[in-house]
Amino acid sequence: MQILTTAAGLQAYTERARQTGKRVGLVPTMGALHAGHLQLVRAARADCDEVIASLFVNPTQFNSAEDFRLYPRLPEADAALLAPVGCTALFVPSVDEIYPRPTVLRFDFGALEQVMEGAHRPGHFNGVATVVSKLFHLARPHRAYFGQKDWQQVAVIRQLVADLSFDLEIVACPTIREADGLAMSSRNLRLDAEARAVAPLLHRVLVAAAAEVRQGILPAQVRASAASALASEPLVTPEYFEVADAQTLQPLSEYAAGRDVVLCLAAHLGGVRLIDNVVVAA
Ligand code: PAJ
Repeated sequence: MQILTTAAGLQAYTERARQTGKRVGLVPTMGALHAGHLQLVRAARADCDEVIASLFVNPTQFNSAEDFRLYPRLPEADAALLAPVGCTALFVPSVDEIYPRPTVLRFDFGALEQVMEGAHRPGHFNGVATVVSKLFHLARPHRAYFGQKDWQQVAVIRQLVADLSFDLEIVACPTIREADGLAMSSRNLRLDAEARAVAPLLHRVLVAAAAEVRQGILPAQVRASAASALASEPLVTPEYFEVADAQTLQPLSEYAAGRDVVLCLAAHLGGVRLIDNVVVAA
């Protein structure tokens, strides 16, 4: 596995690959890798000749300096996990390499980012769109792989690709969970034993809410039962629980025929912010 640390190195590597007729897959990550990330690399490996994973804790998408500082950083362990699952090149740039100067361009995703993560983390999707655009321009992949664990992020990136005519395909892969249902996340490393024991509640609440949606129970009632289930656990501080259209991400007051529903939540547990979602197919 090749280690690339400069933007020019990444450009040259993928340019060579394209010129020799290879298909290039890109898996953007912020590191502290787990099975959720590795599944994206495996999916890329199945479709592409070259699989580039990026490891970059992107400062512009953090709306809390503390969260950025505490974000787990394990580059050596990450590199050791990537090679065996078929990653051919690892891009690990410095902040200066990606941001030689502060960016001034601002993205506005309209209604798509006025809800959930966008509403609760001002500037978050601007930072995500900035870094993902840079990675797309540098690597020019044929396909880029993202996880449905960040459902709203996938929607924002699909919009970015459409609006800026990036010539690539977005592949969304399912959420990988621990045996007790907790969605894998780099932030799980920051949970202490007590918070870790309680954390599967988030998924249980989503599963119970999904069952209610399938029974036709109206969104207002689904929100109320989820809120009371989350409130029953003193270690959990809910930030939002939403019943939304899976494509537009707009909150629902009733269900529309033929439209998938996504249930999304964010909550704080022992100082760690976790998100999760479940989709209910129409
Ligand atoms: P990060 O949180 O490291 O996640 C990298 C990719 O792995 C994302 O596409 C995310 O959705 C996916 N992922 C994380 N946990 C997952 C799980 N349990 N199951 C399936 N996929 C999972 O998302 C980011 O980084 C950043 O915003 C990034 C896109 C890299 C831009 O900086």
